[in-house]
Amino acid sequence: MDPTPTRNAPSLADATRGRILFGGDYNPEQWPEETWQEDVRLMKEAGVNSVTVGVFSWAKLEPRPGAREFGWLDRLMDLMHEHGIGVVLATPTASPPPWMGRLHPETLPRDEDGRVEWWGSRQHFSHSSAAYRRHAAAVTEDLAARYGSHPALTMWHINNEYCTFDYGDEAAAAFRRWLQDKYGTVEALNRAWGTAFWSQGYDGWHEVLPPRHAHYMKNPTHVLDFKRFTSDMLLECYAAERDIVRRHTPHIPVTTNFMPLWVGQDAWKWAAEEDVVSVDSYPDPRDPLGAQDNALLQDMTRSQAAGGPWMLMEQAAGPVNWRGVNHPKPRGLNRLWSLQAVARGADAVCYFQWRQSRQGAEKFHSGMVSHAGERGRTFQEVKRIGAELARIGTEVTGTPVLSDIAILHEWNSWWAGAQDGRLSSEVDYAEVVRAWHRALWEAHLTTAFAHPEHDLTGYRLVVVPQLYLLTDAAIDNLLAYVRGGGTLVCGFLTGVADEDDRVRPGGMDVRLRELFGIRTLHEWWPLDAGSTAECEGFRGTLWSEEIEAEDGVAAARYEGGELHGLPAVLRRGGAWYVSTLPEPEALRDLLARIAEDAGVRPPLDGLPAGVEPVRRGGLLFLLNHGRDAVTVSVPGRHRDLLTGADVAETVELGRYGVVVLEESQ
Ligand code: GLA
Repeated sequence: MDPTPTRNAPSLADATRGRILFGGDYNPEQWPEETWQEDVRLMKEAGVNSVTVGVFSWAKLEPRPGAREFGWLDRLMDLMHEHGIGVVLATPTASPPPWMGRLHPETLPRDEDGRVEWWGSRQHFSHSSAAYRRHAAAVTEDLAARYGSHPALTMWHINNEYCTFDYGDEAAAAFRRWLQDKYGTVEALNRAWGTAFWSQGYDGWHEVLPPRHAHYMKNPTHVLDFKRFTSDMLLECYAAERDIVRRHTPHIPVTTNFMPLWVGQDAWKWAAEEDVVSVDSYPDPRDPLGAQDNALLQDMTRSQAAGGPWMLMEQAAGPVNWRGVNHPKPRGLNRLWSLQAVARGADAVCYFQWRQSRQGAEKFHSGMVSHAGERGRTFQEVKRIGAELARIGTEVTGTPVLSDIAILHEWNSWWAGAQDGRLSSEVDYAEVVRAWHRALWEAHLTTAFAHPEHDLTGYRLVVVPQLYLLTDAAIDNLLAYVRGGGTLVCGFLTGVADEDDRVRPGGMDVRLRELFGIRTLHEWWPLDAGSTAECEGFRGTLWSEEIEAEDGVAAARYEGGELHGLPAVLRRGGAWYVSTLPEPEALRDLLARIAEDAGVRPPLDGLPAGVEPVRRGGLLFLLNHGRDAVTVSVPGRHRDLLTGADVAETVELGRYGVVVLEESQ
């Protein structure tokens, strides 16, 4: 169903060994060593069994070029081992020490206006810099040699949230090499980029630059390739460090943490290079759809882990400090969202960070131990979560979350579709994906994510919220899926461009037009912010289309306005096309109906809104995302693994309540 790992690799199971990993980023270098003793005592109290160490320790480990100060880390590793706490050891390469930028200014990235990103924050490294890569490899080599056989080591964490762009000269040279590999000749590049437009034809490789600041709109395929290049360069940095640690410790799994639905990394490609897929998740506690945001990220991460267990590397026990206004998590929400991650496949629930910092840019970002200390509500809740995860670990770890529905998502399409010069800046790809996931989540249906070229035959229903760019291989895949009896639902602006971002004749690939029964796509009609398009039985938002359809394929029509009487939703056999974004309830009802026809039903009937049901292995998780208590009927007899209580026919879920039900014999 999803891509299978190609090597006999270590996995998350090598680190969990039947327990759910629980802990977080631990930055002991910020504290006097006496505090470490208190840390260990509190970690034991909270059931912490894993800490991620060294993420930002480069200046501490190598205060001047070539120096190595490992003493503190030796003591820390020994201390963790003595107390049975595993260490996810990070390479510190996300934040080079000041000497790096001073001695090698070319390691500092430049933005598209040519401005330097100086040291004094973090992530100020150029992925293309030879000096950066040399120093990063050296410190990684020495860390791996020193701690590779340390008994506390359970996993390697490479760098942190790879996310830098660089438009500088060394990146320009690397970009040209990348393009030469891809296109072979400048003529091929000119064809792919469509440089006949606006006199952009290149006469030689030396003329090609990153898409730096320019007078007006840039060449979209140039920008698209630069995004692909950046993702690939960062991946090269990751792979170089991974290969070093792997050489020392082939049996220890390797990860790097993804950011939630982050535009900069082709995470399908990246995930295939990891032993453990991990992610950082920070939904806003005040967002009524925060739980769904979590669920989306969890479904996506699980799918990147080929459907298997994944690691929640970072979440916040309380507030973050990077939104305009940062609210703490109300009582119970940290527990609910932690158990939600487990329900949707996580075998590791960790935080940024263990102890809230007293200095530095994140001193108002929460920790598992907040400024209020061990008596604080945050730590008390953390203790409860640790105890509960320990209780369910054996039954849960390693078990799969099954889904009959796949949402197709792909980065190249996101990059291409988000360019300047579009018909509507109101259309935000990530928001469209969120809307479709929300519809299925609110219909109580569990979804996976898949790449459009993955084997889709295991799914009963495949939905495409929006894939503006589709390769020929992806189109063949969709057609074969429908021919094989699958049900496919595509949203607007799908199949418009080929992989060079060239608009396909007719505005949508001809095979897709035939599939949906579209004779002519006359015009796209984007909707103004806040306005809607009336359709039979619902209202559309964001977009509408002037489609002339084959007879009998219109499942719902536009009503009133320019498009009156034209099809809004088309259906031909197992293929559906939705030419607008229906309002949330309408999209939910439409997809729930199509899912039911395809044989996909929620795990339980009659669930109240806001109650999320997820089957993981033989267990049924029920999560109440509301503040009011609800009663849920659960036919048969069950036992709640969290409390040991018997559940017969109904269960009461209090504010933010969770049960983990196992069927009683
Ligand atoms: C990211 C980083 C952490 C920290 C948190 C704060 O996830 O990886 O180092 O900055 O954000 O939310």
